[in-house]
Amino acid sequence: MTHPRVDAVAQEARDAIASARSSAELEQVRVTYLGRQGALTQLLRGLGALPAAERPAVGAAANEAKRELEALLESRLAAALEGERRVRRESERPDLTLPGRRPPRGALHPLTRVHDEIVAIFAGLGFSVAEGPEIETDYHNFEALNIPRDHPARDMQDTLYLSESTLLRTHTSPVQIRAMLARKPPVRIIVPGRVFRRDVADTSHSPMFHQVEGLAVDRAITMGDLKGTLELFAREMFGPGSRIRFRPSFFPFTEPSAEVDVLCFVCRGGGCRLCKQSGWLEILGSGMVHPRVLTNVGYDPEEVTGWAFGMGIERIAMLKYGIDDLRLFFDNDLRFLRQFA
Ligand code: PHE
Repeated sequence: MTHPRVDAVAQEARDAIASARSSAELEQVRVTYLGRQGALTQLLRGLGALPAAERPAVGAAANEAKRELEALLESRLAAALEGERRVRRESERPDLTLPGRRPPRGALHPLTRVHDEIVAIFAGLGFSVAEGPEIETDYHNFEALNIPRDHPARDMQDTLYLSESTLLRTHTSPVQIRAMLARKPPVRIIVPGRVFRRDVADTSHSPMFHQVEGLAVDRAITMGDLKGTLELFAREMFGPGSRIRFRPSFFPFTEPSAEVDVLCFVCRGGGCRLCKQSGWLEILGSGMVHPRVLTNVGYDPEEVTGWAFGMGIERIAMLKYGIDDLRLFFDNDLRFLRQFA
């Protein structure tokens, strides 16, 4: 059933549906013709104003057109939505040909690397790792190590005291005392750890840095054992051509004492900037454990002897990697750290 009053609007709506390009445009068409203010809706609403004779024919035609348009819209909308879903699926499909994104990768801090290397070398020689507290007693840090109160040796290290009798350990040597108190000889340990001194940070000072202590106590341990052990360490750490030398020195807890240098691996002894023209690089302090230290921990110095050494991890790392400022280790500047990745 048709009616000229309805036909024009219906045809216009059919054309609009045919040319709609998307579900959104179809919705727009629905609103335009079938919505509350839509053309066809208005037409139906205006029936009452028509002459009574025209009403049934116009009404029937308008209702039929409405049903037709609704059905048409519904099927077109379903098709449009399906098409749009397909496009979305297509565009969201992962492109397997894209190159992968590399996940950021962390790396060990240079101090950790050097620490691990030192520990591995001595572990290979049968040493086990021991640790001790960073807050120490005056007794373990000084007294038991033959550094009595008022001894000038206490001026060698500026100490951060927490109280009369407690302090931040100034070296890892107090762990020698703890280890020997805790077990009977033989003792073969290395002790990595943090140490603290009242220093202002500059290129070669830091209020906190790291040391590794070494201690071997047994029957008939000699200075030759110390030399051989450190020679082997130097070759592993700085290369097979490495040589070391002992220079007489003084520590209250070792007798005799020696400072150990490694042949400068840059100039091989000829003299350069790194070794300040001396041909040698100081790497650690060492010596034979003082008999009084052995007595202090209940060992009999007539029965056992021992050697000890202490080296700075930062110092070894600076030499090994040619780093000229100690502060770089603690700034955590990624431009510095990435060089060790
Ligand atoms: N504890 C000394 C220091 O910090 C190093 C050292 C350790 C020397 C063991 C001899 C024996 O300077």
